[in-house]
Amino acid sequence: MAAPARMHDVTPENERLIDLVLDYSRRRMLDPDVPLDKPASAAELRRLAGTTIREEGIGGERALAVFEHVLAPACITTDHPQYLSFIPTAPTKAATAFDLVVSASALYGGSWLEGSGAVHAENEVIAWLAAEFGLPRGAGGVFVQGGTLGNLSALVAAREAARARLAESGAPAPARWIVVCSAEAHSSIGSAARVMDVDVVGVVPGEDGVLSGDAVADALAAHGDAVFAVVATAGSTNFGIVDDIASIAALKEEHGFWLHVDGAYGLAAMLSPLARDRFAGVEHADSLVVDPHKWLFAPFDACALVYRDPETGRRAHTQHAEYLDTLTETADWSPSDYAAHLTRRARGLPFWFSLASYGAAAYRDAIGASIALARDIADGIRARDGFSLVREPQLGVVVFERDGWSKADYAVWSDRLLDAQRAFVVPSSHAGRPNVRFAILNPRTTRAQLEAILDTMM
Ligand SMILES: Cc1ncc(COP(=O)(O)O)c(C=O)c1O
Repeated sequence: MAAPARMHDVTPENERLIDLVLDYSRRRMLDPDVPLDKPASAAELRRLAGTTIREEGIGGERALAVFEHVLAPACITTDHPQYLSFIPTAPTKAATAFDLVVSASALYGGSWLEGSGAVHAENEVIAWLAAEFGLPRGAGGVFVQGGTLGNLSALVAAREAARARLAESGAPAPARWIVVCSAEAHSSIGSAARVMDVDVVGVVPGEDGVLSGDAVADALAAHGDAVFAVVATAGSTNFGIVDDIASIAALKEEHGFWLHVDGAYGLAAMLSPLARDRFAGVEHADSLVVDPHKWLFAPFDACALVYRDPETGRRAHTQHAEYLDTLTETADWSPSDYAAHLTRRARGLPFWFSLASYGAAAYRDAIGASIALARDIADGIRARDGFSLVREPQLGVVVFERDGWSKADYAVWSDRLLDAQRAFVVPSSHAGRPNVRFAILNPRTTRAQLEAILDTMM
């Protein structure tokens, strides 16, 4: 058979290959005890996997075997209950399974013309999130690849709005545009600023890590109209600390800046009554992000970017080209228009399917369980001799020190833990002091598992 037909037609070879892939996926998704796994060296992987890319192909069976037995074990299971580093992921069974459907359906999520059904479902989720966060009806946005791209896209829209406002008033543009945020804001804000060639003023938050309106007011007084946006962090990555969004938002009337809320990690916690109050003021945001691939239990990769007035996003981001006129010269809602992207996977659908299947209440419970566990284990750490909490946890991140341990002690301990397949907990630091953090968001993580990890530090 000619090669093109071999790859695309329904043939016995392709039927077999699809069965193998679905069988593997089924086994993996239904395995209650997937190992944590660990990285391997490039030399080891080369030796074990051999040369897999050849003119003739090695066949699907062999390629899948290489994946299952060599490559997959060299990838840490990021939704393992004892994966407590960085910001973990914990997709629901429904969301994981539906990711297969998104791939199987050749959906295009960039335009209404091509993907109206998918876009409709994604928009329902975005509208639901916007309402949860107190944004007015009419707020809307798009699922993008991650919080980094979401933050960048929001800040580009913010600068565009500031430029338009200044041009309208006849005032000159500042020599350098400035974005104000907490000195503990996520690194993606600095990254966005570099891409946009704007400056960042990082305001030092209080001892507790919370950025307040008073501190922001000083920065605004110092930099005036050059400030096009203030970013409030709704759950810092290192500590899960929420800025005092209400006091920052209260400055908007006088200073007229765009308020962006970076809730990539933490804003999901607003769904739980245990944390909802901490987010007061989010309803004043001009834009916000929250990542379903973090605490909304969707697979990689998805960030919900929401604009108070979606027109601001569209003005900043719509790409114009002759071949796209048929999409852009209509009033249709095309997700491509709302961020720095064009081609897009309908990446909000796994979250939509899961939310529709289980209902919002299940999400509130699951998120609340992690917040409660973080509080519990913080009590446990406080009660142990030789351990000190660095800050009181607000959401699901618990940061602590093992008294007297050096950076090297943490590193050796962490390597051993992963090597023994006990847990994945990497060292961190704050203000130059080494520490370690539990980032808890997987509903399958238990207090007993966390206590057992603490025992290994005794
Ligand atoms: C607060 C915050 N903002 C932004 C990001 C970046 O998100 P992503 O890794 O999806 O680009 C993160 C990632 O951890 C984060 O915690």
